Amino acid sequence: MEFNITLLPGDGIGPEVVNEAVRVLDVISGKYKHSFNFQERLMGGCSIDKSGKSITDETLADCKASDAVLFGAVGGPKWDDPNAKDRPERGLLALRKGLGVFANLRPVKVHPALVDRSPLKPDRLTGVDILVLRELTGGLYFGQPKLREVKDGHERAVDTLEYYDYEIRRIVSLAFELAKGRRKKVTSVDKANVLESSRLWRQVATQIGKEHPDVELNHVLVDTASMKLVAAPASMDVVVTENMFGDILTDEASVLAGSMGLLPSASLGESGLRSGGEARMGLYEPIHGSAPDIAGSGIANPVGTILSAALMLRYSFELESEACVIETAVEQAIAEGARTTDLGGKLTTRQMTDEIIQRL
Ligand code: IPM
Ligand code: MG
Repeated sequence: MEFNITLLPGDGIGPEVVNEAVRVLDVISGKYKHSFNFQERLMGGCSIDKSGKSITDETLADCKASDAVLFGAVGGPKWDDPNAKDRPERGLLALRKGLGVFANLRPVKVHPALVDRSPLKPDRLTGVDILVLRELTGGLYFGQPKLREVKDGHERAVDTLEYYDYEIRRIVSLAFELAKGRRKKVTSVDKANVLESSRLWRQVATQIGKEHPDVELNHVLVDTASMKLVAAPASMDVVVTENMFGDILTDEASVLAGSMGLLPSASLGESGLRSGGEARMGLYEPIHGSAPDIAGSGIANPVGTILSAALMLRYSFELESEACVIETAVEQAIAEGARTTDLGGKLTTRQMTDEIIQRL
């Protein structure tokens, strides 16, 4: 099969890790006789430097026209001025919104060989396998009004937490579908004791829960959820929540795995956009940032990006067995001692990828 992939390496370590994922995809395409056509575009600080914009209309159009987008990271001290006209992060938000990728899947698994890398006690980590679904195109990030003004002699700023029922329905429904292939437990996280948007969230989640009697549904307040994530993470299966809560909880959850450098993510739109099947437009990215402190030194962990490429094969291309081949190779490499510096080892970005490629 043939697929068109737009690469957005971005800033900092982004280009280093995207490059390694492409090497893995090239091996997969050779072995399984697919063609992956790559086109590279600018987004983030590098795009601001070139054109003054964190993402151009042409780049967004090119991403929309492709089968999937693989993204590295954006941002860095060079573009951190709070008064700047544009910021690298704005490009990412425009891309998510523009592609309509409302569901951000962030799987968090603890590899048994890496239990000692997490600050949590080993007995808490056994059996941790969580899939967080973060709503990605609504809530506080996008709600209107969003403004800064001077009112009654004071500076005032407003962000709006807004959700429509259909926005909640589509992501919670996906959470239930995904839970069916797992341990059949959905934890819906909200702040329904305080927020109106959360009361609507809970109401919609409850309705959808009734349509799926084979899946257990729990509602947990976000403050309690943040505690449970470190106190009893193995009890969680699929967690579904609004945009900002999901942003915060997934950074917390990444600590369980021992390094942010290990974790992939997939951001999906409506299904059936491609080929009438279950395949979806997707944006794939590691959950780590641009890590300006180590950029250019060739020591970044490529695993999060390589596993993101595996998710791309699974969700956008429906190549499940090829996705599993990559995931198994990563697991084996780690089990057999392959470690980048964030994992306490000495391998460079390229050497870590070589270890994975040898096991494909
Ligand atoms: C993430 C990041 C982004 C977000 C930033 C870079 C805008 O923290 O993907 O979690 O807040 O969504
Ligand atoms: Mg974040």
